[in-house]
Amino acid sequence: MELVSGMMDGSLSYELKNRLELVLSGSGVQREANIELKELPMFEECSERQLRSIARIARVFDAPAGTVITRVGEPGNEFYLILDGTVSVDLSVAKPVSLRPGEFFGEMSLLDGDPRSATVVTDTPVRLLVINRENFSVLRREVPDFTQILLVTLSRRVRQSEQRADRLGAASATL
Ligand code: CMP
Repeated sequence: MELVSGMMDGSLSYELKNRLELVLSGSGVQREANIELKELPMFEECSERQLRSIARIARVFDAPAGTVITRVGEPGNEFYLILDGTVSVDLSVAKPVSLRPGEFFGEMSLLDGDPRSATVVTDTPVRLLVINRENFSVLRREVPDFTQILLVTLSRRVRQSEQRADRLGAASATL
C-alpha cells in the first residue's frame, strides 16, 4: 500500500520504482522483517529510541542478481545499506569494488548533490535498507558518529581507488 501511494505521490524515486521490490517500511522494518538494526555495525551504538527513529524512516527492498541499483551520471536520492548479498561498484578508472553486508553506498550523491559517481550492480540477490534524501538528516542526527563513519569510509574509498588505478596503470605499462 505504501509502495503504491509512494509511486502516486512521487516520493519514491525513479531508481526505486523501477529496480527494487519493497519488502517493508516504517515500524515493520524491525518487527516483521526480523531485522535487528542493532546488529548492524553502523547502528550498534544506537539507543532503543534512536533505533526506533531509524526504523521509522527506513524501507527494506529486495532485488535479484544483476539489478542496476545506481547508474553513473544519473541523479541520486537514496542511501543504501546492504543487509544481505553483495554488490559491485563499477569504477571507470579501476577494477570493480565488491561491497558486503554491513557496508553502504549512495552516500556521495546525498552529500554533494552531484550525479551518481559509479554504477552499482547486484552480484547476488540482495536485501537493502534504504533511506531517502529527505530522511538522510535523521541518520546524521540519530546515528552516533555518523559523520565520522562517512568520512572514514570516503577516505578509504579514495585511497583504494587510487591504489587500484595505479595497479591498473602499472599493469598496462608492462604490456
Ligand atoms: P554515489 O555517487 O551516490 O553512487 C554510487 C556509489 O558508489 C557512491 O555514491 C559510493 O557509495 C560508491 N562508490 C563510489 N566510488 C567507490 C569506491 N571507490 N569504493 C567503494 N564504493 C564507491
